[in-house]
Amino acid sequence: MDIINTRRSIRKYTEKPVEDELLVKMLEAAMNAPTARNLQEWKFVVIKDRTVLKQIADALRSSRMTEHAGAAVVVLGDKTIQPKDEYIYVDCGAAIENLLLEAHSLGLGCCWCAIGPNEDRIEPIREILNLEEHLVPVANIAIGWPDEEKEANHRYDEKKVTWIK
Ligand SMILES: Cc1cc2nc3c(=O)[nH]c(=O)nc-3n(C[C@H](O)[C@H](O)[C@H](O)COP(=O)(O)O)c2cc1C
Repeated sequence: MDIINTRRSIRKYTEKPVEDELLVKMLEAAMNAPTARNLQEWKFVVIKDRTVLKQIADALRSSRMTEHAGAAVVVLGDKTIQPKDEYIYVDCGAAIENLLLEAHSLGLGCCWCAIGPNEDRIEPIREILNLEEHLVPVANIAIGWPDEEKEANHRYDEKKVTWIK
């Protein structure tokens, strides 16, 4: 619960590199998330190349922090495995949250940045990563060692809850 409650979106990173082993741990966490019909249709593009990180930052305003991130993971859904976009988005969302929580537990900071369903964000990412049509880019996750501190969230709100007893 402590890891869940203290996770925040981190958009400023130090220049310290992010080791591959830590990225693999994050991907392990992502792939242990549930998926509809256990189809596991996600694919992950791990980017450490500074030129590509900058291309993503330049292409998507909402992913600007990627320019200074140590790495990024672009999460894709494979439509040949799961044809329904709705399931691709929820399945990738569950995997992304696991990835963010594992990153936070390792001391890393991340920001979940939307790509799909907006075509004006999907198209540039398709071009930069040379993606085939059946792969739907869902999100870009910027990752790095945090260079900002944020308060824990306290969002529990009983007004949002209905109990049926
Ligand atoms: C589906 C989704 C898309 C998001 N897209 C962006 C984005 O493009 N750029 C960004 O800076 N943050 C993005 N965020 C992060 C949210 O702004 C952030 O989670 C929210 O403000 C709450 O802050 P917290 O994560 O620190 O609790 C996104 C989050 C989600 C779940």
